Amino acid sequence: MKILILFAHPRFSASIAQRKFMSAIQGIADLTMHDLYATYPDMMIDREREQALLLEHDLIIFQHPFYWYSSPAIIKEWQDIVLDYGWAYGPGGNKLHGKFMMSAISAGGAHDAYRPGGRNRYSVEELLAPFNQTAYLCGMAWLTPFVTHESRRISATELESQAMQWRELIEGLATGKLDPLARIAQTYDLPATFKSPQKA
Ligand SMILES: Cc1cc2nc3c(=O)[nH]c(=O)nc-3n(C[C@H](O)[C@H](O)[C@H](O)COP(=O)(O)O)c2cc1C
Repeated sequence: MKILILFAHPRFSASIAQRKFMSAIQGIADLTMHDLYATYPDMMIDREREQALLLEHDLIIFQHPFYWYSSPAIIKEWQDIVLDYGWAYGPGGNKLHGKFMMSAISAGGAHDAYRPGGRNRYSVEELLAPFNQTAYLCGMAWLTPFVTHESRRISATELESQAMQWRELIEGLATGKLDPLARIAQTYDLPATFKSPQKA
């Protein structure tokens, strides 16, 4: 399975967690890492280039720090420009059917804060509903997000262990050792238009 990571960190020079995760997955075959802020510092996203990249890959991952319960702004801009009517959805918009989408997030907040009655009231998966529904509209399977909580507070050893889990997941999915369909998010119903290339 070919994996495309759409990476977004507006202050990567100050990053601790995402820097660790990015370096943990260097050198994996069939993985393309695409740093959106580095590629488009002016946010002028090249639709054709991005759509061509999507067509070449099976699993699209949004990797970023959690910002205001969502993503840094360039991910939203990327979605607005690239997921075009008649291409990704709507009449004839079937180019992403059968692909997979996932979010990989570092959050400042603790796991316990993301629950009813907690400081953040909702689970991370609930807050990612727009990503879940975007995948659904585009005929894609949305996979359980990979989330690291308290990412600036955990020890270097814990961060290292998370980064190794991240590498194992990406390597497993890329090599086919892990079945992406076993990682369908609980909050997700596969769209009728989803036809897994692996089951075809
Ligand atoms: C503008 C901004 C918004 C943030 N919003 C959230 C948030 O909504 N929830 C959360 O848990 N952490 C939030 N954080 C904390 C970051 O997610 C956290 O510091 C980051 O994931 C750590 O990764 P890094 O070391 O790569 O920057 C926010 C941080 C910034 C700067």
